[in-house]
Amino acid sequence: MASSAPVTTQTLLRLKADGEKIAVVTSYDASFTHLLEAAGVDVLLVGDSLGMVVQGHDSTLPVTLDDMIYHSTCVARAATHALRVVDLPFMTYATVTQALDSAARMMREGGAHMVKLEGGDRMLETVTALTQQGIPVCGHLGLTPQSVHQLGGYRVQGRDDDAARQLLDDALGLEQAGASMLVLECIPAALAKQVSERLRIPVIGIGAGVDCDGQVLVLYDLLGITPGKRPRFSHNFLEQGRDIPAALSAYVEAVKAGHFPAPEHTLA
Ligand code: KIV
Repeated sequence: MASSAPVTTQTLLRLKADGEKIAVVTSYDASFTHLLEAAGVDVLLVGDSLGMVVQGHDSTLPVTLDDMIYHSTCVARAATHALRVVDLPFMTYATVTQALDSAARMMREGGAHMVKLEGGDRMLETVTALTQQGIPVCGHLGLTPQSVHQLGGYRVQGRDDDAARQLLDDALGLEQAGASMLVLECIPAALAKQVSERLRIPVIGIGAGVDCDGQVLVLYDLLGITPGKRPRFSHNFLEQGRDIPAALSAYVEAVKAGHFPAPEHTLA
């Protein structure tokens, strides 16, 4: 049975220090939020992936701040104890002032506990400004979907030495600027391990190998209901589960036991 103590930034630091893996899943509505909390998920990510899996766009770029606030509110109404992290969508944090305004709305109207933003070096001033105002921040490095056109597609990042060094510097910079958590998406497992070991804050991987402090999956990938090709790093937990609650519990158990991701889900 899931604990009903509220999960806070302090809880996440303690889980990392104790070597207990952190289970994160995206959630976009009230019903799944109930099921995810009952399965023992520590962190609910209201991800802008909703632009693709809920709204049917081919990227996250069309998602608006109002869309995110709407879904964050749906999740917040149902949640009782998991930490709620909400994505700031594309071009809603292009300046420090805009980031402060967007994050304030996300917390006040959307009930977010933490905001997530993509980017390293260029985001440090913004992360400092947000955290100085008491707004917890989660960074996102590696494959940053809001920059998909600049990256030239959804591809593994940080493969060569220069890119790996830059990613580690960015991660250290985000922690130094006050970030409370970091998502690493689609990078080599060895690099993700190195970043997780160097940082004090929890590092959550997706397509980044098993040696991160926790894992995140897009809910629809976890249930095998995302249309089209399944990302190689994800796994359909509904295939082995009786029903949706059993599939969600199987994911949480696999993450906590360090069984997910398995070698076949590891990209590089
Ligand atoms: O939007 C999202 O769901 C995300 C995860 C893929 C980490 O950012």
